[in-house]
Amino acid sequence: MRVGIVGWRGMVGTVLMQRLQAEGDLNGLSVRFYSTSAAGQPAPIREAASQVVLDAHDLATLAAEDVILTAQGGDYTSAVHAPLRAMGWNGYWIDAASTLRMQPQAVLVLDPLNRAAIESALAAGAKDFVGANCTVSLMLLGLAGLFKAGLVDWITAMTYQAASGAGAAHMRELVEQMGFAHRCVSSQLADPSVSVLSIEESLNAALKSPLLPAAQFGGPLAGSLIPWIDADLGTGQSKEEWKGMVEANKILGSTHAPLALDGICVRVGAMRCHSQALTIKLNQELPLAEIEDLIAHAHPWVRLIANNREASVRELSPVAVSGTLTVPVGRLRQLPMGPAYLSAFTLGDQLLWGAAEPLRRMLKLLRGTL
Ligand code: HSE
Repeated sequence: MRVGIVGWRGMVGTVLMQRLQAEGDLNGLSVRFYSTSAAGQPAPIREAASQVVLDAHDLATLAAEDVILTAQGGDYTSAVHAPLRAMGWNGYWIDAASTLRMQPQAVLVLDPLNRAAIESALAAGAKDFVGANCTVSLMLLGLAGLFKAGLVDWITAMTYQAASGAGAAHMRELVEQMGFAHRCVSSQLADPSVSVLSIEESLNAALKSPLLPAAQFGGPLAGSLIPWIDADLGTGQSKEEWKGMVEANKILGSTHAPLALDGICVRVGAMRCHSQALTIKLNQELPLAEIEDLIAHAHPWVRLIANNREASVRELSPVAVSGTLTVPVGRLRQLPMGPAYLSAFTLGDQLLWGAAEPLRRMLKLLRGTL
């Protein structure tokens, strides 16, 4: 199988390459690397079928691949996918970008939930396989047990999304803001006689100052938050919020009778783990122990965290989960609105299960090795 990999140097691409190599997924494949800016440079791995990086806009060369695996981003997909198809290229396109997600021929991949749908689409000749929005994938993985049992009536998802979802430059800016904020108050902080209210006043002034590095976020994220993610659709809903319901229903195969899912998506000062506080309305009343059991045993990556203070502090934080494939679910309890109403808090690494992992696994599914 000939596989062309595009966008392997970016942040998602780097994580994807780490996972592909850690799992030996490229063994036995003929892999060529493509770039929009570094054609001609040496390939990143010795075993590559081309010792040099190829031009990611060279359609004739791309058309020789059986599979194109891209984490290059939406602009690249927009520029290359349709022209390649128009040339008659009939290979598999595996993509992290949102561009193709809602096109009818594209299959959203999250195999712990929709493996059967992916496999039947493959059997029916589907060729475009796209990773879903990170928040959607992580929420679905957390609650997979409830979805698989058909128990969910509706969900509100209030998100706490990490800087990485916005991109590498945003992650750097968050850390710059943290440093800037600390530098602005460090002498006051070192003097125990300075009141914390004075420190807060200085800090707030620093975070409002035009000197704060904010070219990416457009304002302070460190010491603050931003309750809007992605484009303004002009309907009162952000594009990130819109994606939640449409993509979740596409993955669940329920677009004809969509599950209601909405909430407010908020950027917070975490680095690469997205968290979500969920209110879930079940379509029947079940004992909490049964709900816990369904959630905990849905797939190997989900982990039910005891709903107590100690476990929540230790295991339900972006810092605890960063760099892992674990999707913890905690704070699970029945709410006073009635036994069918649940709260839950879940999180996951948005570069792993939120981006790279479903694509890596799709490549394995294609090879029949998953
Ligand atoms: N749109 C997401 C975010 C990232 O900004 O956090 C990936 O879907």
